Amino acid sequence: MAGPLRVGVVGIGQRGLQHVSSLTQLQSEEVVTLAALADPYADNLETSQILRFVPDFHDDGVQKFTSVQEMVDSGSVDAIWFVIPPNQHRGEIEYAAGKGVHIFAEKPQSLWLDDILRQNEAIKKAGVMSTCGFQMRHNRGYTEIRNYLADKWVASMTMISEGAVEGHGVKHTHTEEQGGPANRVWTANRAWSGTSIVEAGIHQTDIMRYWSDEDIEWVRANYVERPKELHEAEGDNPIYYSVDYGFKKGGMGTIIFTKPARSYYIGRYDCIIWTHGTIRLETDYVDYHFEGDWPPEEKPSLDQVRKVVSRGPHDDAMGRRATTDISKAFAEGVTRGKPELLLNTFESSINSLAAVLAANVSNELGGEKIVIDEFVNDDRYAKYRAKPR
Ligand SMILES: NC(=O)c1ccc[n+]([C@@H]2O[C@H](COP(=O)([O-])OP(=O)(O)OC[C@H]3O[C@@H](n4cnc5c(N)ncnc54)[C@H](O)[C@@H]3O)[C@@H](O)[C@H]2O)c1
Repeated sequence: MAGPLRVGVVGIGQRGLQHVSSLTQLQSEEVVTLAALADPYADNLETSQILRFVPDFHDDGVQKFTSVQEMVDSGSVDAIWFVIPPNQHRGEIEYAAGKGVHIFAEKPQSLWLDDILRQNEAIKKAGVMSTCGFQMRHNRGYTEIRNYLADKWVASMTMISEGAVEGHGVKHTHTEEQGGPANRVWTANRAWSGTSIVEAGIHQTDIMRYWSDEDIEWVRANYVERPKELHEAEGDNPIYYSVDYGFKKGGMGTIIFTKPARSYYIGRYDCIIWTHGTIRLETDYVDYHFEGDWPPEEKPSLDQVRKVVSRGPHDDAMGRRATTDISKAFAEGVTRGKPELLLNTFESSINSLAAVLAANVSNELGGEKIVIDEFVNDDRYAKYRAKPR
């Protein structure tokens, strides 16, 4: 296909505006043409509103729609970036794919596995290209960790994410008109976010798969619920999450997420253990690993075993650069017919999404071990896969 790729963005909210910003940059590099925007709320499409977040946006040649179907039927786009809340999908991805439109789906693709499997079938049947919005895969430091681990067996990955309720942003979906939160902070609300593990912890889940180049085989999870009397003010998502993953080659992953209110604290801890080393994400990403004949006659100092895997500083894994890079890879993958430029597909991302959805189910079943393959296929879990009527 001759470039630039004609791109539409569906959902012009917090994340959609970040995509509009990156795509505006990629338009100036002639990688894409920003052809159309869609959002059911006309106020989110107003140029003056978009300019508040994307100062270099210009609307020449950009068509605006309040219906996704009309955007697709207009024939003005080759690919769509879907950036809508995960509980709001109503067949739009299937419709667009069916009309030959390539699909960039923000994570989580939906809160219900049945929906996701249907979206995937439509994408496969149409033979269009697809990717899922795990931009951390495009981060240099994380990619250098993955490359370093390529010939090693990963025994464990531990990620502790200390967040707080105050970290949730005020969103752009008019949730108050749909029986959702009055303050539009839908990420704090279970029915909209599917819990913070689904909405946010899916990034950590996916990056563990990227680092170790392995799929998740099973999950066990336990959450601590936020006391009911706090739900109205702080949202009804759990206050603490402990999630263990078993990986296919026998290693484990552990994610701990905290979401108290009033702490304003943000912190993190990351550690990867392989058979002969401890990788820590310091200013540089480093591996503590003794290289010579082992055991040495004299115990080495930590400095002597410290090896830089990726030179820092690293502070942008989720940021603007990775977002632009994932969009660029997708656009060029499509126009140059090179799927190898993509670091995931919709289908390959299902393991990350199934794992976080299964974490919720495990917690609900008292910490039961859930095998992902059974979660996807067995009748026993059918009611957890289906969207409630
Ligand atoms: N990859 C990342 O780092 C990242 C960061 C933030 C959000 N996200 C994801 O992006 C998605 C959107 O989140 P957000 O923060 O932008 O939320 P938001 O509420 O700010 O924006 C969503 C937008 O979608 C629109 N919308 C709702 N239903 C729609 C529909 N059926 N069709 C078209 N548009 C619709 C809303 O009006 C709103 O403008 C979520 O899945 C979220 O998890 C990803």
